[in-house]
Amino acid sequence: EAAEKGGYEHFMIKEIYEQSKAVRETMSARIAKDDSAIVMDELKWNKEFLNSIRKIFIVACGTAYHAGFVGKYYIEKLARIPVEVDIASEFRYRSPIIDDRTLTIVISQSGETSDTLAALKEAKRLGSKTLAVTNVVGSSIAREADQVVYTWAGPEIAVASTKAYTTQLIMMFMLSLYMSEIKKTIEKDYTKHLIGALRQVPSQIHEILEDVEPIKTFAQKYGFNEDVFFIGRSLDYAVALEGSLKLKEISYIHAEAYAAGELKHGTLALIIEGVPVIALATQESVYEKTLSNIKEVKARDAVVIGIALANDDQIEKYVDHIIKVPTTDELLAPLLAVVPLQLLAYYAAITRGCDVDKPRNLAKSVTVE
Ligand code: G6P
Repeated sequence: EAAEKGGYEHFMIKEIYEQSKAVRETMSARIAKDDSAIVMDELKWNKEFLNSIRKIFIVACGTAYHAGFVGKYYIEKLARIPVEVDIASEFRYRSPIIDDRTLTIVISQSGETSDTLAALKEAKRLGSKTLAVTNVVGSSIAREADQVVYTWAGPEIAVASTKAYTTQLIMMFMLSLYMSEIKKTIEKDYTKHLIGALRQVPSQIHEILEDVEPIKTFAQKYGFNEDVFFIGRSLDYAVALEGSLKLKEISYIHAEAYAAGELKHGTLALIIEGVPVIALATQESVYEKTLSNIKEVKARDAVVIGIALANDDQIEKYVDHIIKVPTTDELLAPLLAVVPLQLLAYYAAITRGCDVDKPRNLAKSVTVE
């Protein structure tokens, strides 16, 4: 096992470090040489079908469900198709409205999660076309879906998913751009700009991983707190959900993610002196709104750790600590913002002496209902 860990102490940290390579693999051969378009040769649908889609469901569990949240945002923003994201164990027991102009996308690292597989079968039975986004070639979900795209993250061993998540985001981004091309919903220059930004992501992830000391220090300082809150708006909210799941899963700290604008409808009552709040502020379009939420928690004496882009020269004034990630287009910020959150969870778990790769009560792949 030590050999498989390649010199790292745990699979999780090895997989965190593999993300730069993993996302590069996911992109490889799927970007046109002149960066003008996304190429999805593996999709055997004709353009008429893709043009006819009126509704998309994204169905998944756990971390893959959080990737679905980001996927919804990408598809709606870039390809202008309405998307509903659902937890697989909920989707299969309600009455989703589906017809042959519906596409159901299931996301699953393992391709074996029982609820996701059952949801996929149900969507097919109701007449939906189906697409699997998975990491495991020939898995049950890959075989059951009409079409499959692979994330090429390489084997993920740690129970807490890291590189599978980032590669799922890359895949959802590329799928959205591919659909936008067919539906002609965005300008060619914008596509080129986004593909240019996408190409930077592997080296930007690498850059974050070159200096993890400040994150380790926060984890040691706040690792014994019993509650941690994550806040953000828009895509930052989606990342907050994943950051909070990571922390719960492996460090057993009670963590909650809130859409920052929703705080005042209840959760603000829990924000008292010294409570750590991790505030994501990478989204330009809602930046000012996020800042006002940060001020709200600061006014209650929370300890605020801000996650922001490198070109943000304002945020320092409003937070106690800051972690910056390289500047990118706001759509791609989740791929960078999640990395410090994974590291925070990892080092918090180490600080608390938890079994990082095999957290209590959890399994890598849940093949029972
Ligand atoms: C388990 C794992 C999670 C994972 C979820 C979905 O709960 O512990 O890390 O996100 O299953 O797994 P899948 O293989 O379908 O992505």
